[in-house]
Amino acid sequence: MTAPKDFNDRMLSLGLARVSEAAAHASARLIGRGDEKAADQAAVNAMRDQLNMLDIKGVVVIGEGERDEAPMLFIGEEVGTGDGPEVDIALDPLEGTTLTAKDMPNALTVIAMAPRGTLLHAPDVYMDKLAIGPGYPTDVISLDMSPAERVHALAKARGVNPGDITVCILERPRHEDMIAEVRETGAAIRLITDGDVAGVIHTAEAELTGIDMYMGSGGAPEGVLAASALKCMGGQMWGRLLFRNDDEKGRARKAGITDLDRIYSRDDLVTADVIFAATGVTNGSIVAGVKREPGYLTTETILMRSKTGSVRRMIYRNPIK
Ligand code: FBP
Repeated sequence: MTAPKDFNDRMLSLGLARVSEAAAHASARLIGRGDEKAADQAAVNAMRDQLNMLDIKGVVVIGEGERDEAPMLFIGEEVGTGDGPEVDIALDPLEGTTLTAKDMPNALTVIAMAPRGTLLHAPDVYMDKLAIGPGYPTDVISLDMSPAERVHALAKARGVNPGDITVCILERPRHEDMIAEVRETGAAIRLITDGDVAGVIHTAEAELTGIDMYMGSGGAPEGVLAASALKCMGGQMWGRLLFRNDDEKGRARKAGITDLDRIYSRDDLVTADVIFAATGVTNGSIVAGVKREPGYLTTETILMRSKTGSVRRMIYRNPIK
């Protein structure tokens, strides 16, 4: 059966923004308090409450974890009033728990929604990711290229020198060789300590963020969220699941994945139109973080629909209760 394409995305998009706003509001008082868990929990509770007000028959496909490890917003949890279109939900109530706890840039609350059966049920394993923004020929770079080949191919496509390219990479020991190889090309690297959903989104607005390409491994669930955003903004992305042991392979099989070596394109990760909302928790280059003024909290949300390619940035001011 093919999934129905229309899920009332136009009307639901504002509701989606409310969901990510609520999570950001709730985690605001925990910015810079050194408590990752409390910040995450506050965001989870608020996101779930708001999500359950939406007129949808929703199922969480990317969430806080398996049912036995996450009491709320677990994979398979049904959300919404039950009255409305059948949809898949991918969410990360706080993408960048450490960034929030340390008050470092680019912590976001993130949620995407698409027709039922159209978001990859990515298991909680790593994914090798590669992303660029819009305006390049299809498949100008690929996961099968070496990091240096990717830089050279992208520079050629842009008509610039490799030294004019900036690559965003998560700073991890596992990326040491990749970082060294990219440096050899002369390209610049923006190292981030966390938050690769934001890392990927940065490529879609290269003139604002200064980032041309994202590469490296991070969470597979975050890969589906990032692909949802890029599908709205334009841009290309590829992902390949990485397995460290048989248990992780088992998780993938349980999620219905049979080809464990498959390279997923953006449109394989998200196979139909999607809506996406992310609200800034800490300040970042995509959206501003939560601002606290006497009596008020103000947030900025980026809200997008792939069907129209529309990108809204919404400022929301609400009294502190
Ligand atoms: P949290 O939201 O749990 O803090 O995760 C942030 C994150 O940096 C993701 O953006 C990224 O995909 C993943 O963690 C990377 O995992 P690891 O820290 O194991 O390298």
